[in-house]
Amino acid sequence: MTDVQRSLVLVKPDGVRRGLSGEILRRIEAKGYTLTAVELRTATTEILAEHYAEHEGKPFYGPLVEFMLSGPVLAVVIEGQRCIEGFRSLAGATDPTLAAPGTIRGDLGRDWGLAVQQNLVHGSDSEESAAREIGIWFPGL
Ligand code: TYD
Ligand code: MG
Repeated sequence: MTDVQRSLVLVKPDGVRRGLSGEILRRIEAKGYTLTAVELRTATTEILAEHYAEHEGKPFYGPLVEFMLSGPVLAVVIEGQRCIEGFRSLAGATDPTLAAPGTIRGDLGRDWGLAVQQNLVHGSDSEESAAREIGIWFPGL
């Protein structure tokens, strides 16, 4: 049975700034996922409040939002068989120091000291999150 999904991926400001957008898209395409939408965007506090609603009130929320506003992000919708789990697997663990080699965060992520938020990419974590996040970044898609 096929289980084709869509997922919302963001190349975060550190990834865009470091010129890693192409390398990250290359890994997504090499895995066999389709790029359904790709757009360089400047986030807003409103969009981020919706996008990171689950994290509101946590100690890292403020710094995370501030970092996400520090430069453009590449907003991407990918599509493919089990691509939600698949992209999370490509991305690796949240903390780049602990992310396995071979993953985006493990191969390319830097440890900036206190700033775990600078981990290059976001990927939706469930079908429900994916639908919600795609609606936030690409309404009407
Ligand atoms: P989370 O959704 O837990 O991680 P992931 O991006 O792997 O789904 O957290 C969202 C982002 O918040 C995460 O990418 C980095 C940042 N963050 C911190 O800065 N400190 C933390 O302790 C956690 C858990 C996340
Ligand atoms: Mg998450």
